[in-house]
Amino acid sequence: MGDAYHIPVLLHDAVDMLVTTRGGVYVDGTLGGGGHAEAICEKIFPEGLVLGIDADEDAQREAKKKLARFAPRVKFVHDNTVFLRSILHSHDIDGIQGLLLDLGVSSFQLDEHGKGFTFRADAPLDMRMDRRQTRDARAIVNEYDEHSLADIFFTYGEEKMSRRIARAIASQRSEAPIETTSQLVAIVERCVGGKFVTKSLARIFQALRIEVNDELGRLETMLRDGVEMLVPGGRIVVIAYHSLEDRIVKNYFAEQAATMTPSGVKFLPDTPRVPVLRLVTKKPLIASEDEQMTNPRSRSAKMRVAEKV
Ligand SMILES: C[S@@+](CC[C@H](N)C(=O)[O-])C[C@H]1O[C@@H](n2cnc3c(N)ncnc32)[C@H](O)[C@@H]1O
Repeated sequence: MGDAYHIPVLLHDAVDMLVTTRGGVYVDGTLGGGGHAEAICEKIFPEGLVLGIDADEDAQREAKKKLARFAPRVKFVHDNTVFLRSILHSHDIDGIQGLLLDLGVSSFQLDEHGKGFTFRADAPLDMRMDRRQTRDARAIVNEYDEHSLADIFFTYGEEKMSRRIARAIASQRSEAPIETTSQLVAIVERCVGGKFVTKSLARIFQALRIEVNDELGRLETMLRDGVEMLVPGGRIVVIAYHSLEDRIVKNYFAEQAATMTPSGVKFLPDTPRVPVLRLVTKKPLIASEDEQMTNPRSRSAKMRVAEKV
C-alpha cells in the first residue's frame, strides 16, 4: 500500500515544530499510516521513544510495517487517544516531550468503502474508527429522534437543510430501517436540489462521523490531558480539517496562554495568572500552494502549535 495509504499533511512543518530535542517521549495520537511518526523517528532515532496511538486497527497494522526499522524505539497502542493519561501511565511514562494530533480520518479510511465514511460508495452505515465500539452510524440514523438528528446535522455539519433531511430520514425509517450509505444518499438527494447536493452530502456524512466517534468531545479531553502531560518546553501540534475542530483548538490554546483571567464582572479588574502555554503559531499554518495542488486533503488543513511554559 505504501504512500497510497495516506499522504501526510504539512509533514515537515509539523515535525520540525514538534521535535525540540532528540530525547524524551513523543506521542503521535493519530498514528494513521505512520507518515508523521516516521519523520519523527527519523529526527530522534535512536535516542527518544515514539508512542503511536490509533483507534483503528488497520491503521496500526499499516504503521507497524512502515516503522519496523525503528523498533524497539516505537510502541504501538490500539486505543483512543482520549485515554492518553492511562495509556501513558500503563507505559510508566509520566511526562512527554511532544504530542501530535493530525485529526479526523485518513485517506485510506475514506477510500475503504466497507467503513461507510464516504457518500461516494455504497457500504453499510458504520463510520466507526474503532470497530470495538458499539455505536455506529446505523444506530444514530435509525434510533436518534428526529430533533436530535437535525441538531447533529446543523451543529456538526453546519447544514442548512438539517430539519428537512431529519424529517425525511424519520419518515423513511418508519417503513424500514436505513442500512446503507446509498439509502442515506438517496434521502439527502430527494431533500436538496441539483448542484447543492454534493456539499450537503459532505456535511451530513461529516456530521454523522463526528457524532459516531464523539470527535469534538474527545478533542477537548485530548487537548486538556495532552497539555497536562507535556514537560516544560514540550510542544503540542494540532492539524484540524474543519472550522469546528480548529475553533476548539484555537480557543483552548488562547485560554491556556492568557496572562489574565477574566473576572466575569464588568467593573472588577481581571486577575493576573501564569500562562500554561506559549503560542508558537500566532496564526494557523496552512499548506503551501504546491502541497494543496498535489494533496487536495491538505487544502482545509490548519495547524496550530503551542509550547508548555
Ligand atoms: C488524518 S489521519 C492521521 C494520518 C497520519 N498522520 C499519517 O501520517 O499517516 C487520522 C488518524 O487518527 C485516527 N484517530 C482520529 N481520532 C482519534 C482518536 N481520538 N484516538 C485515536 N485515533 C484517532 C484515525 O483512525 C486515523 O487513522
